[in-house]
Amino acid sequence: MSHHIYPLSHYLLLLLPLFFIIVLSAEINNSTCPSYTCGNVTIRYPFWKMDTESPTQFCGYEGFEIKCSSNGDQQDIPEITLSDDNYYVQWINYDYKSMLLANYDVSSAVPGPKVCPRVNHNISLGTLPLNLSPFSVNISFHFNCSGCPSFATEIPCLDNNGRKSCLVTSTEETEDWDGYSCSEEVVTAVIDELMKKSPNFQVDFGSVLEKGFELQWGGADDCEKCEKSDGRCGNHSTTGHICFCSDGTISKNECGGTFIITTLKFQF
Ligand SMILES: *[C@@H]1O[C@H](CO)[C@@H](O)[C@H](O)[C@H]1NC(C)=O
Ligand SMILES: *[C@@H]1O[C@H](CO)[C@@H](O)[C@H](O)[C@H]1NC(C)=O
Ligand SMILES: *[C@@H]1O[C@H](CO)[C@@H](O)[C@H](O)[C@H]1NC(C)=O
Ligand SMILES: *[C@@H]1O[C@H](CO)[C@@H](O)[C@H](O)[C@H]1NC(C)=O
Ligand SMILES: *[C@@H]1O[C@H](CO)[C@@H](O)[C@H](O)[C@H]1NC(C)=O
Ligand SMILES: *[C@@H]1O[C@H](CO)[C@@H](O)[C@H](O)[C@H]1NC(C)=O
Ligand SMILES: *[C@@H]1O[C@H](CO)[C@@H](O)[C@H](O)[C@H]1NC(C)=O
Repeated sequence: MSHHIYPLSHYLLLLLPLFFIIVLSAEINNSTCPSYTCGNVTIRYPFWKMDTESPTQFCGYEGFEIKCSSNGDQQDIPEITLSDDNYYVQWINYDYKSMLLANYDVSSAVPGPKVCPRVNHNISLGTLPLNLSPFSVNISFHFNCSGCPSFATEIPCLDNNGRKSCLVTSTEETEDWDGYSCSEEVVTAVIDELMKKSPNFQVDFGSVLEKGFELQWGGADDCEKCEKSDGRCGNHSTTGHICFCSDGTISKNECGGTFIITTLKFQF
């Protein structure tokens, strides 16, 4: 019986994962769940501020990044992107897990005329753990119609070459738009009470839209274990999901778990 003599490269291959992990753990920063201010808004977990975290990792939920852009000499504008559409973040309430967003097209914080704003896209929350709050309601605009049905309200300032723009404020499943040949529908949301208090919504809808709508957030599915173990979720471009623990260590899924990064940290 003869022993195999492995070439040196073979042993190096065995060591490769170890190198990888050491490099990775050196790269991962254990102090990366900071809080920031942008305009009047505090950005902290589960939100995170774009361009301030390291390019390879962040602490927060995926899709919850807030961009802070400066608006000339005015205050900084916090902005979130949901399904490729930008929204101005007016406030975030971390106790109630809610935030007030305004459509970028209609927000007065963003320069541009807003007298008779036309909303151009549906609010689309995608797969993010976000929901419309009970204070908000959907409203839908139907554009370029031959007329407005009786259950809808005409918005004269949005008429275009004799083609009508109509608004429905209650989501009735029985709506029948056949015969009005509208070419586009856009669903957005407003604060229910503001709309109801508005004496002439047909004309005032711009200022109600500008006030925005409220969303609530829940826990991200893949983050439950980490948060239950007192950690905060994040992402690293190499490992994907990571969990920042209160003792300064970083695990894969949950704190107190036996993950190699945590173990190897003690070897430094
Ligand atoms: C910040 O809050 C102040 C006072 O409430 C308000 O006047 C100002 O417009 C707010 N700024 C922005 C960008 O919302
Ligand atoms: C880690 O944190 C330090 C201090 O907070 C910072 O200077 C450094 O850029 C961070 N490194 C990474 C990779 O984020
Ligand atoms: C409001 O509209 C959004 C997007 O179209 C939809 O996902 C949501 O279910 C609607 N909510 C209500 C309460 O109708
Ligand atoms: C508006 O409707 C008319 C008639 O149906 C149609 O010819 C036109 O292309 C539509 N315009 C837009 C912008 O969709
Ligand atoms: C908005 O959503 C409605 C259905 O909820 C859909 O019919 C419409 O095409 C969407 N509009 C846009 C601009 O995507
Ligand atoms: C999260 O990490 C994965 C790698 O597993 C990467 O593909 C993805 O782009 C990261 N997400 C973000 C928002 O950086
Ligand atoms: C990183 O974590 C170690 C414990 O693993 C801790 O001693 C150190 O102070 C932490 N560094 C920062 C910048 O929080």
